[in-house]
Amino acid sequence: MTDPLEGAARRRLQVLEAQDLRRGLSLVPKSLHDFCGNDYLGLKQHPSLRAAGSEPCAETGAGASRLVSGHCRYHQDLETALRDHFLAPAALLFNSGYQANCGIIPALTGPDDAVFSDALNHASIIDGIRLSRAQRHVYPHSDMSALSASLKSCNSSGLKVIVSDAVFSMDGDHARLADIVELAHTHAAAVVLDEAHAVGVLGEAGRGLAESLGLSDRVSIRVGTCGKALGSFGAFALCGEQTRELLLNRARSFVYTTALPASVCRVSAAALPLLASGARQEALWENIRCLHSCLQEYGVDLDEPASAVIPIVVGAPAAALELSAALRRRGFLVAAIRPPTVPENSSRLRVTLSAAHTAAVVREFASALAESLRECGVTLTKPPTLT
Ligand SMILES: Cc1ncc(COP(=O)(O)O)c(C=O)c1O
Repeated sequence: MTDPLEGAARRRLQVLEAQDLRRGLSLVPKSLHDFCGNDYLGLKQHPSLRAAGSEPCAETGAGASRLVSGHCRYHQDLETALRDHFLAPAALLFNSGYQANCGIIPALTGPDDAVFSDALNHASIIDGIRLSRAQRHVYPHSDMSALSASLKSCNSSGLKVIVSDAVFSMDGDHARLADIVELAHTHAAAVVLDEAHAVGVLGEAGRGLAESLGLSDRVSIRVGTCGKALGSFGAFALCGEQTRELLLNRARSFVYTTALPASVCRVSAAALPLLASGARQEALWENIRCLHSCLQEYGVDLDEPASAVIPIVVGAPAAALELSAALRRRGFLVAAIRPPTVPENSSRLRVTLSAAHTAAVVREFASALAESLRECGVTLTKPPTLT
């Protein structure tokens, strides 16, 4: 008997292929320089993190969710360390940033509530809002007049929540947080800020965007992930104590999943003193500035970088694939990012920098990128404004 799913899958994959949107897994040769990961501080191979991960341990897996019997002192210690490092009232671990957003938004909101979301927010926020069944108001990217108008016209009598990436994951720009918290104040709304690409990159000791602007106490929940600048895995919510209690009761992605293994918690905890020292964050910013100025010398004129994410927007998916292949031939890995991860006509290379890159490699990369753009005949475009 033929499997009906295999036939349907083949046809759907053919459609993706024809649109240059099919994706695939490939093992990355160690010889390539990675300019598209999120290991911003170069911690994923740091000896302290490796040592923390390989310490002997009585158990490999937690064996249950934290509310059943999986809670152990490693979770507690890491939450305390995160709370202290990020100067928050309380912290709660999640198994990933994706799961954090999918759990937090429905734990706070339901059909009587309203969520206001930037059009370029990460997929995990979009999915969290869908799961919540709250009224959804999507405002054009960073358009504060539109956000204000939609808060004014909202007739929900329930909770209002504004949710935003702090650093937009595919564009690298910052949320207009000062305006967002003012609007939140005017309309008695709560703010949830996803600091996934800001932790380790912005603010003293890598505490993120809200801290860098002195606005942490005006944000109800800051979400961070351990899988990016912390070089580990897992995620956390920084919030008030009552909110933490509510999340651990109501966030389904917390309640109904096996707790993080102890070894992973130890690795995340080992990253925090390295964040606190600030040296790697400084090295990262030197690389960000170096790439920008080298590209300018080669005639590639980009906006002033605001984070470790530098978008090279080329438009069509095929153009992004071609540019990615040209860089790969020159020894650099930069994956092509295509819809639905980014809006139609804004396929791109999402170039990222890391403190682990040497200055020489950053300069070589700038030259390779400039040559590849010429070879592919690519002219850079601005991403379209979303409505
Ligand atoms: C803004 C944002 N939030 C959340 C996530 C998900 O984090 P994690 O990789 O820990 O699941 C990502 C991942 O790319 C992200 O870009």
